[in-house]
Amino acid sequence: MVYNFDELVERKNTDCEKWDNCRERFGRDDLLPLWVADMDFKTPDFIIDALKRRLEHEVLGYPVRPASFYSAVKNWLHRRGWETDTQRMCFSPGVVPAINFAVNAFTDAGDKILINTPVYHPFMHAVNNHGRTLVKSSLVNSGDGHYTVDFDDFEKKLADGVKMYIMCSPHNPVGRVWTLDELKKTGELCLKYNVLVISDEIHSDLIFKPHRHIYFASISEEFARQTVTFIAPSKTFNIAGLSSSIVYSDNIVLHEKFKKFVNNLSVSAGTVFGDIALEAAYTHGDNWLGQLLEYIDGNFEYVMDYLDRYIPCIKTRKPEGTYMMWLDCSGLNMTSSQIHEFMVSKAGLAVNPGRLFGSEGELFVRLNVATQRAVLMKAMDNLRNAIKQKNG
Ligand SMILES: Cc1ncc(COP(=O)(O)O)c(C=O)c1O
Repeated sequence: MVYNFDELVERKNTDCEKWDNCRERFGRDDLLPLWVADMDFKTPDFIIDALKRRLEHEVLGYPVRPASFYSAVKNWLHRRGWETDTQRMCFSPGVVPAINFAVNAFTDAGDKILINTPVYHPFMHAVNNHGRTLVKSSLVNSGDGHYTVDFDDFEKKLADGVKMYIMCSPHNPVGRVWTLDELKKTGELCLKYNVLVISDEIHSDLIFKPHRHIYFASISEEFARQTVTFIAPSKTFNIAGLSSSIVYSDNIVLHEKFKKFVNNLSVSAGTVFGDIALEAAYTHGDNWLGQLLEYIDGNFEYVMDYLDRYIPCIKTRKPEGTYMMWLDCSGLNMTSSQIHEFMVSKAGLAVNPGRLFGSEGELFVRLNVATQRAVLMKAMDNLRNAIKQKNG
């Protein structure tokens, strides 16, 4: 089946965070929303059909998760090169909740937790909100938008009593897909200083050629023993509204500890629809995903070409993974607040200010391109016209 990602879908007035929460988040509701990691495409037919079939049985009592749910996860990961054990999978109602659970389950108040900034901001909240100590190691921008870990700084911080490292792989917002070499270096240092790795791999299906995602825990038994991995179909298939994710660890002690924590909070039930959607996605999603990636790749090319031709003062680099573009707006010669104000008031765009992800992002904005090309074209034209007006 061929999917049409150009099909426009009216999302305004559907109680949708991305389109209906702009007034609250940005002060206006007449903006083109290209912010939160949510795609404007229809959820694929095989998920909708599975949900509809379940609804035909008009009783929605407590569900149990069938063995086929876990097999679907295992088979999806197997097709992507990682052999897992269904006995080591644990359900969580979302990855951000799972990271918060992990912080509480595996560390104590005051413990140091390391992150690589700029990074998905809920990592910082998960550390700060539970009274742990946030330690940051800045990624290094080689100047052309390619970011790498500063391993000297990373090691120095790990050596200073860090208990947990929260990794973002692929990395949101800088779009890196970490190489085997980089992952090995990271893992060896975490083993050396006995630091637990919390590996958020929610974007692991959103990878663009020639890059290849390597599940951190798949690299060696030692890494697997030191790691808890988080995956979900929510970004890949745009089903974040169904709150379903998987937490995996080959280490039985970590697995049991996490499972106990989640059970004690009574949040392991999830919803019948979340379970059905996850299983359908991981069972039938390969073809749809292949087409989605091609479409998003085309959106990346469109934005890069447009910036190059018409807005050369804004620079970007093609993401290796995720559907987020990280735009370097330093050429606008504005402060961080002025850039944000300009994007909202002059260009009519709701984009995430880069400073949200750490001070390294002050002069950047994050652009979500998982939308129809026509929406993106309008957004780029808005931006070009706003800059023309600014420059008189
Ligand atoms: C790195 C990362 N982790 C987690 C999430 C959200 O996960 P969930 O909706 O399952 O809590 C996002 C959403 O953008 C993300 O980018």
